[in-house]
Amino acid sequence: MIPSDVKATLSFSDGSASMDLPIYKGTIGPDVLDIRKLYAQTGKFTYDPGFLSTASCNSTITYIDGDKGELLYRGYPIEQLAVSCDYLDTCYLLLYGDLPNEAQRKDFHARVTNHTMVNEQMQFFLRGFRRDAHPMAVLTGLVGGLSAFYHDSTDINNPQHREIAAIRLIAKMPTLVAMAYKYSVGQPYMYPKNDLSYAGNFMRMMFATPCEDYKVNPVIERALDRIFILHADHEQNASTSTVRLCGSSGTNPFAAIAAGVACLWGPAHGGANEACLNMLEEIQANGGVAKVGEFMEKVKDKNSGVKLMGFGHRVYKNYDPRAKLMRETCHEVLNELGLQNDPLFKLAMELEKIALEDDYFVARKLYPNVDFYSGIVQRAIGIPVQLFTAIFALARTVGWIAQLNEMIADPEYKIGRPRQLFVGAERRDVKPLDQR
Ligand code: CMC
Repeated sequence: MIPSDVKATLSFSDGSASMDLPIYKGTIGPDVLDIRKLYAQTGKFTYDPGFLSTASCNSTITYIDGDKGELLYRGYPIEQLAVSCDYLDTCYLLLYGDLPNEAQRKDFHARVTNHTMVNEQMQFFLRGFRRDAHPMAVLTGLVGGLSAFYHDSTDINNPQHREIAAIRLIAKMPTLVAMAYKYSVGQPYMYPKNDLSYAGNFMRMMFATPCEDYKVNPVIERALDRIFILHADHEQNASTSTVRLCGSSGTNPFAAIAAGVACLWGPAHGGANEACLNMLEEIQANGGVAKVGEFMEKVKDKNSGVKLMGFGHRVYKNYDPRAKLMRETCHEVLNELGLQNDPLFKLAMELEKIALEDDYFVARKLYPNVDFYSGIVQRAIGIPVQLFTAIFALARTVGWIAQLNEMIADPEYKIGRPRQLFVGAERRDVKPLDQR
């Protein structure tokens, strides 16, 4: 953090002493006011539920400019990474700070590939779940359960443990997600196959059976790899902040990532792509394209509680740059699979068109976000809607672990412990039962 020459002064109208607040500059983005001594010097806290104006940490990993619609991983624009790199290159970049050279790339791909299998016991653990359990419920359990199997990588204060845990998590997530899927449909688990790409291996574990050879479709493989790249990190979003907060207590990496999975599940975050597809199916069931106008009226009516899922973003108040790339992939996949005329996809395109032109959405700068298109792509590929958020979790695992490791390696890190403005009852005495 670079100290700024400018200082802020906080003054009070009641005559209490004012306080100078140091300002720090980042390399790009807004400066921050350092309020760490505020309570000690003034006896006051700041109030910012939802973290609308609060930087919870300093970080070198991901930068978003929501107004410009810009997303950089370690300085590299997402548009360049999505076309020039694969997901594992992106993982390397997020974890170690720069893109790998040829030798580093080979070594990293080999290391991840060598950790794709999970302990055989994991499948017995999985069997404890109902077959119709939500995959995110299963995944939260399985990821947390990894800490019971890999005891040699649970010490978060040991850099080697953190490194092995990172590789294991990136390598094993596709295996776990595919196992959760196979279990839900009652098919045998497919073991990983190390001569396939990360995305290709995942497709095979998902869609192959032991009875037949499986050929990876390169268009779909590229589309999945792109979904993974676009979801790999997104700075201090809700699930990443959850991972940091959870890990700040010194808990093991698998437990911290399980907390991230749980947070991601929510419909305002990773659950949006599932919620979006459910919304499309509901409109389709209620009359399809002919009923879009009626549905949009409900969305615009504040009392209806209906939102257009897959639209809007807390940070991007301009177009989500990931959505642009995913839109391109979406059309590629629909063409490859001959699905351009599928009624649900036509409906999605109609919603997109209306929302991009309608005053309500234009005035509020509500654009389709990445999840609008990634849901459509995943459905086209044949991934069940319930599994969408698990795929997001798979892709985001590298971001979570990179952010967690960055925090733990920071000598200044402390357990996260927000404060509160208490507005409940003041001290009072318990009355005997007959007087309450
Ligand atoms: N449909 C209809 N109206 C909306 C929507 C929407 N999807 N999103 C925001 N608005 C309205 C909102 O009601 C408010 O209107 P007004 O100013 O009249 O009160 C205005 O737009 C500003 O919205 P906000 O709620 O203050 O925005 P936020 O930054 O708090 O919320 C959001 C961001 C993503 C939670 C919200 O846009 C939303 O719920 N979208 C649908 C869910 C979704 O697609 N989430 C995925 C996010 S991308 C994946 C990820 O990165 O996790």
